[in-house]
Amino acid sequence: MLAQDLAKELECKYLQAHTTRFPDGECYVRIEEERIDDDVIIVQSTHPDHNLVELLLLQDAALGLGAKKVSTVVPYFGYARQDERFKRGEALSAKVMVKVVEMNSRRFITVDIHKPIVLDWFRGDAYDVHAAPCIGEFFKGSEIDMVLAPDEGALQRAREVATVIGTEWDYLEKTRLSGEVVRMAPKSLDAKDKNALIVDDIISTGGTIEAAANQLKIMGAKSVTAVCTHGLFAKGALDRLRKCCNAVYSTNTIEGEVSVISVAPQIAKALR
Ligand code: R5P
Repeated sequence: MLAQDLAKELECKYLQAHTTRFPDGECYVRIEEERIDDDVIIVQSTHPDHNLVELLLLQDAALGLGAKKVSTVVPYFGYARQDERFKRGEALSAKVMVKVVEMNSRRFITVDIHKPIVLDWFRGDAYDVHAAPCIGEFFKGSEIDMVLAPDEGALQRAREVATVIGTEWDYLEKTRLSGEVVRMAPKSLDAKDKNALIVDDIISTGGTIEAAANQLKIMGAKSVTAVCTHGLFAKGALDRLRKCCNAVYSTNTIEGEVSVISVAPQIAKALR
């Protein structure tokens, strides 16, 4: 879907590669064209793992048909959270991904990469596209009246979204009240009677948003909406979040039930 959106934005041809699996599970890809005399943009995430293999095979298939330049759009760059060897003996996973993805591609584009330092490891051009303008546009004209980041480090994203909507923004500050009780409250704003929007880059287990949403409700928020760029929604997270949030949305970097916000306009801008 994202590749189709992107082709429309860029007014270029969309090709759906043929992909299937051999009986032993290995991946087979084929681009059913005689020749490619143009530049090619391949859209595929590196998550889950089988998509990475598909991406590498697609890059090679495009080059094999004569593509002049291969650009790779990785909507969700998996493994970006392991950008260090946190413990002795671990793999530097993000760097491994960089090496393989750029083997057959001269330009790399991703969306809201978890650790921007990873981009510095590419030898070719590498860009990180922000989903915030598309998220802001989606909520423009809605009843949202405050945008919140789940922590201070994510404040810039909340600010970008809030600026497009035209609302206030803040971040949630964690205060440990006892060994087990953590309070999460907006740093400066009052959530009472407000329609709050929490913005995060990733929702995985949903634990972060769940804690924030419950706290905002306790503080008297009229409604709590959650939105993220990458909706991984692991282990039934979406069902759990629907119980504590009035609505949950994500962008289409990972396609699923709530991926209603297209980031194609922002990716197209980076590619032009
Ligand atoms: C953390 O650094 C990220 O920005 C997200 O807040 C985190 O990955 C969300 O994970 P979960 O949904 O499991 O709480």
